[in-house]
Amino acid sequence: MMICCLAQLVLSGWARTAPTSPNSFFYHNFLKGNSSREIHFSGVKLHVDSAQASVSAVRGGNTTMPCRFWYEPEPSSPREVRVKWSWLPAAGGHETDVLVAIGPHSRSLGEFRGRVQLRQDFPGDAALVMTEVQLNDTGHYRCEVVDRLEDKSSSVYLELKGVVFPYQHPRGQYHLNFQGAQQACEEQDATLATFPQLFQSWKEGLNWCNAGWLADGTVQYPITRPRVPCGGHGLAPGVRTYGRRHRRLHHYDVFCFSSSLRGKVYYLQASHKMNLTEAQQACQENGAEIAKVGQLYAAWKFTGLDRCDAGWLADGSVRYPITRPRRNCGASEPGVRSFGFPPPQHKHGVYCYKFDDE
Ligand SMILES: *[C@@H]1O[C@H](CO)[C@@H](O)[C@H](O)[C@H]1NC(C)=O
Ligand SMILES: *[C@@H]1O[C@H](CO)[C@@H](O)[C@H](O)[C@H]1NC(C)=O
Ligand SMILES: *[C@@H]1O[C@H](CO)[C@@H](O)[C@H](O)[C@H]1NC(C)=O
Ligand SMILES: *[C@@H]1O[C@H](CO)[C@@H](O)[C@H](O)[C@H]1NC(C)=O
Repeated sequence: MMICCLAQLVLSGWARTAPTSPNSFFYHNFLKGNSSREIHFSGVKLHVDSAQASVSAVRGGNTTMPCRFWYEPEPSSPREVRVKWSWLPAAGGHETDVLVAIGPHSRSLGEFRGRVQLRQDFPGDAALVMTEVQLNDTGHYRCEVVDRLEDKSSSVYLELKGVVFPYQHPRGQYHLNFQGAQQACEEQDATLATFPQLFQSWKEGLNWCNAGWLADGTVQYPITRPRVPCGGHGLAPGVRTYGRRHRRLHHYDVFCFSSSLRGKVYYLQASHKMNLTEAQQACQENGAEIAKVGQLYAAWKFTGLDRCDAGWLADGSVRYPITRPRRNCGASEPGVRSFGFPPPQHKHGVYCYKFDDE
């Protein structure tokens, strides 16, 4: 059939105008390695669809990003396609390759090596299965299907379920440049929050009057209840932005993002209060380690940790998590309360974190 049509094309001289012909037939010339010409001719149209605009995952969990391709009309013989998944990080930056597959063979790349594979459960299934999802895997994943002639793509947004928290340097307000902010979040078992994450927590009620870095290098703050020291009553609630700031020279606080934990945060039952060094030791003697700020927030958000006792954390701050607000336990909303960074010889309780890999 191919031969017949090809001959027809050449004989009629119609070939040159075919690509734009209204019956959507098209053809393609391309050069092979040895310069011989091959003409491909087809009336088949390729479709790619993701079925879902977004999927969500938790840190350490698995997720599947759907992608399916099909032809119209069904081709009479199987066709070999190339599938490429790429990632545009929510934090900004360039699109990078995640996985490439030709026929049944696939290869995972870069940061995704060994963590992603194509599902291929049925003909046309090109879903991406990711294991061990990391905090910074959020962003747009694009599934591109290439069938010699055609190239179609579709994308899925991967979001993590998590919690955004504002963080300040121990020396006080506005001591972090961009790199310092990145490091501060990592030290708290978290990562820089993205704008969609901050926006989501603003919708959930986050109200914070200090400006903080976000993953894209902008500096913003979320206001749900405008008040005098926060731009005044006249301004509408919203996420206010200072825009992009100089990553090295400018100093602010930071918004960090953490997701669920594999493990447990608990207030250590001890017979007496401890200074910071004693607190660290007490957790170790309990087969655990002193908890980080991101871990306390994750436990508060995901396991409902509620405790009206102030305790040391790894960064030298003293905090406590409240999910059921009550008298003498701080403000009337749920939240993680902070006493800042008291002198290390002061005596408090302690929150410990015990990893478990079940
Ligand atoms: C080059 O193309 C011709 C057909 O045009 C084919 O017979 C030959 O095997 C090709 N050579 C290589 C090295 O692919
Ligand atoms: C994720 O997938 C891997 C491999 O398929 C499996 O061993 C593991 O139990 C899964 N993890 C979770 C949290 O579902
Ligand atoms: C994402 O996080 C992982 C683990 O924390 C880290 O190894 C990796 O370098 C990070 N990737 C980027 C692009 O920041
Ligand atoms: C905590 O107390 C111990 C004595 O129990 C003392 O050796 C240590 O220096 C104290 N650490 C701090 C930071 O005050």
